[in-house]
Amino acid sequence: MTTDATGTSVTEQALAALRGTTDPRLRELLTGLVRHLHDFARETRLTQEEWEKAIAFLTATGQSCTDTRQEFILLSDVLGLSMLVETLGGHHTPGVTESTVLGPFHMTESPVRALGDGIDLVGGGEPCVVSGRVLSADGTPLPGAAVDVWQADDKGYYDVQQPGVQPAGNGRGLFTTDAEGRFWFRTCVPAPYPIPTDGPVGDLLRATGRHPYRPAHIHFIATAAEHTPVTTHIFVAGGDYLDSDAVFAVKRNLVQDFAMTDDPPLAREFGVPNPFRHARFDLVLERAS
Ligand code: BEZ
Ligand code: FE
Repeated sequence: MTTDATGTSVTEQALAALRGTTDPRLRELLTGLVRHLHDFARETRLTQEEWEKAIAFLTATGQSCTDTRQEFILLSDVLGLSMLVETLGGHHTPGVTESTVLGPFHMTESPVRALGDGIDLVGGGEPCVVSGRVLSADGTPLPGAAVDVWQADDKGYYDVQQPGVQPAGNGRGLFTTDAEGRFWFRTCVPAPYPIPTDGPVGDLLRATGRHPYRPAHIHFIATAAEHTPVTTHIFVAGGDYLDSDAVFAVKRNLVQDFAMTDDPPLAREFGVPNPFRHARFDLVLERAS
């Protein structure tokens, strides 16, 4: 088969070459990808030079990845693709905690901590308490649930971005809920921070006139037996960038008050000076079918 000036027959040939893919889902994904990539090239009249630049960009993106940095996730995030995939695959059960992007800074093994421990190992930020329960969608508390937490320090850096500056495990903790499904820990009120801009994704943001900031947040993954885990954040109500998150990950129900709380007995219970900032947030999981 020959190829005409619009490239139609090369598209047909490339699609036909996929017909032998035995895994039907892989065939569907690759067919859709080829169709959309070819339409994209035709629609934008992509030039050889532009495609070479794009390949150089993708190559640099791959070369920027390390054990602690995932530039491809970052690219997917700033293009809104992570959030789109996350939303398409998410549950739609009312009352169940909404999910949002994982981001590139989750470590598979957070330090195991006891309820009430502090995760801010350095200090310097505004202290606060985060507390809540892990519940099943019908309101039943879930004892023994894992609550994996991570956040940037008060200057906007994760521990893995500053080895030798921050202690490993700063801003991280793996908690287990008590007999009533409760969790609580001490930390500092998170600040907004820029996603890393010293790599190809930063070049992309600059080329498109975009700011790199994420609104202040704390990440969670909650896992409980017989339930679907949820990966989410809480965002600090009233903070900057809630309407212009660089990775489009804000959902209204995840924005939480870090309320100034004047309650001496509660402050004593948590081991913090009174008054203190307090975010209360329940993680509600869907029963796995
Ligand atoms: C984060 O919140 O850790 C994050 C999410 C997406 C991109 C960069 C950072
Ligand atoms: Fe984050």
